[in-house]
Amino acid sequence: MVKIGVLISGNGSNLQAIIDGIDKGLIKGKIEIIISNNKDAYGLVRGKNSNIKSLFMDPKGYDPISYDRKLLYELKKSKVDLVVLAGYLKILSKEFIDQYKNRIINIHPSLIPSFCGKGYYGDRVHKAVLDYGVKYTGATAHFVDEGTDTGPIILQEIVAVDDGDTVKTLKEKVLQAEHKILVQAVKLFCDSKISIEERIVRIIDKE
Ligand code: GRF
Repeated sequence: MVKIGVLISGNGSNLQAIIDGIDKGLIKGKIEIIISNNKDAYGLVRGKNSNIKSLFMDPKGYDPISYDRKLLYELKKSKVDLVVLAGYLKILSKEFIDQYKNRIINIHPSLIPSFCGKGYYGDRVHKAVLDYGVKYTGATAHFVDEGTDTGPIILQEIVAVDDGDTVKTLKEKVLQAEHKILVQAVKLFCDSKISIEERIVRIIDKE
């Protein structure tokens, strides 16, 4: 059973998708701990409702490196094997990433390498997509490396941009895709069906 730690900053609908995936027996893992850098994150309520240890860790008074050390301490204490960033709006330090190399999965609301990197988070991504006028966007589940949204891509799902779409409607459509591929990616990891060569992810025994 893979021990999972989930980091969040907000609503936690991606977290909920993982909780549901575990409850349905799809994901052979267990969420040991949820940590939020935002006191008001609804994801903390979701965690508590599912009887999962859910912590708010206040970033105030910490530089990014010491904050991440505190994070690492909590995750290691819970013997976490896999870290999932489910709408975690903070960049992780190199030290953190080195400790969990190829064991941190992030979900991003666009088709990487488009509309990603510094400054592309939350609604800004969907606004940029609409302003550019692309006809397709989507979601990407990827491993986290030292860059911002640059790590090996595990899964992607395409979402069509329709006439009349707004940030709100697009976000809702993309979130559905996010939930789907994040659950699949976590499932694949827990089933040991992911191999990585350089930056290329291969799914073993693809059905
Ligand atoms: C998602 O779009 C995620 O990709 C982005 O922030 C949003 C978080 O949604 N990084 P939720 O908190 O999982 O509902």
